[in-house]
This record gives sequence, C-alpha cells and structure tokens, in this order.
Amino acid sequence: MDQIIVTGSKNPLQGKVAIEGAKNAVLPLLAATILASEGTSTLTNVPILSDVFTMNNVVRGLDIDVTFDEEEKQVIIDASGQIGSQAPYKYVNQMRASIVVLGPILARNGYAKVSMPGGCTIGSRPIDLHLQGLEAMGARITQRSGYIEAHAEKLKGAHIFMDFPSVGATQNLMMAACLAEGKTVIENAAREPEIVDLAIFLNKMGAKVRGAGTETITIQGVEHLKGAVHQVVQDRIEAGTFMVAAAMTGGDVLIQDAIWEHNRPLLSKLQEMGVEVLEEDEGIRIRSTVTDLKPVSVTTLPHPGFPTDMQAQFTALMSVVKGQSTMVETVFENRFQHLEEMRRMNVHSEILRDTAIIHGGQALEGAQVMSTDLRASAALILAGLVAEGQTIVGKLSHLDRGYYKFHEKLAQLGARIERIKGEDSDV
Ligand code: EPZ
Repeated sequence: MDQIIVTGSKNPLQGKVAIEGAKNAVLPLLAATILASEGTSTLTNVPILSDVFTMNNVVRGLDIDVTFDEEEKQVIIDASGQIGSQAPYKYVNQMRASIVVLGPILARNGYAKVSMPGGCTIGSRPIDLHLQGLEAMGARITQRSGYIEAHAEKLKGAHIFMDFPSVGATQNLMMAACLAEGKTVIENAAREPEIVDLAIFLNKMGAKVRGAGTETITIQGVEHLKGAVHQVVQDRIEAGTFMVAAAMTGGDVLIQDAIWEHNRPLLSKLQEMGVEVLEEDEGIRIRSTVTDLKPVSVTTLPHPGFPTDMQAQFTALMSVVKGQSTMVETVFENRFQHLEEMRRMNVHSEILRDTAIIHGGQALEGAQVMSTDLRASAALILAGLVAEGQTIVGKLSHLDRGYYKFHEKLAQLGARIERIKGEDSDV
C-alpha cells in the first residue's frame, strides 16, 4: 500500500490551509437522511474520505438512492420510497460509526437489523448506551449471531439518563426520537459541535430538537420528516491537527475559517504552552517559536473538555517541548499506541494506565513507523516533520479515513513530504 515519507527539517510551516467538512458530522448526517420519507436531502461541504464512501454504501444498502458528486463535494440522497432494514456486516465491520443507522432505520420501518460493530484498536467501544436508550423508547432488542435486531411498532418518547455522554448514542437516540410518539428527554447528552450540527439538520427536516450542545436535549416526536439542504460543519479535528503542526514547527499558519468555540480547549492549552493564537477575519492564526514553549498537563474529556481525537497529535507537540508534559486519556482505554511507535523516533515517554508522561526536548530521529489508528497516523507524520532524517509511515488506510490530501496540504505549507504508491497489500 502507499507510504508517506517525511523528511524532517528545521523549516517552520508557513502560509494558510483550507479545512474540509467534518468526518464526525457528515457520518451521522448521512444516517439522518434515512428519516426523510419525502423529498431529497443535499449535504454540501462533504469531505472526500473513505469513511464517507463506506457510509454512502451503508445507506445505499437500504435501497436508498445516494449520489456523491466529489467535484462539488456534495451528496444527494432520496430516501422517499420503501427502504430496507438491514445494515450488513461488511460495512459495519469496516466502520463502527455505521451503528448510528440503527435508530433511523428502526424509527422509519419499525424494525432494524444491524451488524454488531466490532471493537477497535483504541478500545472495546460497546454500544450498551445506544441499546438501553432505544429500549427505554419501547424497542425490543435481541442480539443474535453478531447482529442486533430491534422491533418497535412505534417508538415512544422517554426520559433517558445516559451513564456517559456518548457521542454516537446521543446521535442514535436523537434521530430515533424524532419520529417517536411524544417527548424524549436525553440527559447527560454529548455536547460536541457535531451534535449541534446534526440537530440543525434534523430541525431543517421538520424535527423538533431543542437543547443540542447542552447536557439535556429535548425532542418532540413528529409524524414524518422531509429531505433538506445542509452544509457540513468544518472539521475541528483537522483544523486542530494543523494548529499543532504549526506550533511544533515554530511556524506561522492561518487555519482558514476555523471556529474558535469549537476548539476552545485546544487553543487554551496552546496558549498555556506559549503559542500565539490570533483570531483573524479569515480564521485562526497559529504562531510559535518552539524554543520558548513550556510543558503542560492535559486531560481528555467529553466536549467541552480537551478532545480525545486531538490527544495523539498533541503528544507529538509535547515531545518537542523541553521538560515533562503529562497526557491523561479518560475517554478510551487504549489510545497511546502512537507513543509506542514514537519511541522508535527517540521520543521518551512512560505510560501508566490512563496517563502518559512525556519527557520532551531531545532531538527526534526519523524512522519507519506503523500507524495503528486514524489519529495516530497523523501524529506520526507530525513527529516526522521535525525529526532528523526520514520518517516512513505505512498503513495509510487509517489516515485516509479522516484526512483529505493531508500530505499535499502540509507540503503546501513548506513540509518536505511525499506519498509514494506501494504494493497492493496494506503494509
Ligand atoms: C465518536 O465516536 C467519534 N467518532 C470518535 O472519533 C470520538 O473519539 C468519540 O466520539 C469521542 O469524542 C465519530 O463521531 C464517527 P462515544 P463514538 O460513544 O460515538 C464508551 C475519530 O478519530 N461508550 O462518545 O463511538 C466508549 O467505549 C474517532 O474521528 C460506552 O461505554 O464515541 C468510549 O470509551 C475516534 N457505551 C466512550 O464511551 C456506549 O454505548 C466514548 O465513546 C457508547 C460508548
């Protein structure tokens, strides 16, 4: 498979970078289009990512017409006819986020059969909160030979308190509740910007969702929903990844159209380190001189806490800042694998269960490294930007799930980076 080769340099990244629509917004938005029994939905600013192709196939598998115009970065979906009820193993196995079609299919058809998502490298990732919420709305759920089957003539509004503010469970339950009878209250709901983006789209479709972005979301069920047009919100994690790239190379980079309140925890940590963060008309400018940066302690938390999806990238920054930094990962139980790989690049760290201590400041050395998951891939490439010599990153199928033209955008900012075609096996 392809490989990315980064040649480390002392050159700071400079210039401006455009950011795509958010992967973690467009996937639930695509699932939400299933709810529209009339009209068509058009999503714009859609990122061209492998996960989007996968979710498009999941929706197509429901006999729904899906057209992805990559030129225009838009997807047009017509779910107005009779739709299927099954999301097959081959797609759910490729992408666990497919589980968010469960609620919409069940709400639309009264029956849904969705493959159980497997775990993944960063954690076991159960779906108990999804299922408990649907059962509270009256669904009868069985799990047999790797599939979840859910039945409910008509879902009933319920008062649900989630043990953990799960993003996916909040999305599944919000969508199911749109067509339930009566009112649903979701307490301890996830508050991520992608939840707000989903609520905006659902309300455009005729739903009555209130409180998205807070810990209590109220949904008044309606009879049916119709297709709508919606622009996918910007990807705050891609934006954050380039902010970290600018900071760790001592650069000066404008992240176009970046949204301050979507990245507040990251921005405040960068400022605490001594990175200059400027809000400008065109976006957010990141300026830094690495030698002046101070080590910090970070704990990942559900939004509005520091995002777990920025954890790996941020540890790459910590590794170039002189002194001892601490990263505590509270959201996933196994999300430090990138640090194991970075050891090969002379990054000194100790991992004690949910805590990583990073002894930053020594020179990083280029090496051949393996990417284990999406954000780890980005982190290894960022480390390669400042390492002595060449860093070779393989298994780019992880990277391609969440970043569009990542190496081209970095090259445009002055990085010495290229992507070479490899054999067909994903090594
Ligand atoms: C979403 O995953 C994102 N994916 C993840 O981004 C992100 O890391 C995560 O939210 C947290 O912000 C998409 O939006 C497609 P969760 P999701 O349910 O919904 C536990 C990336 O890199 N949990 O909030 O699966 C779970 O085990 C990806 O872009 C339960 O225990 O996350 C985990 O420890 C990675 N039971 C924690 O909650 C449940 O029923 C957070 O999971 C559900 C979740």
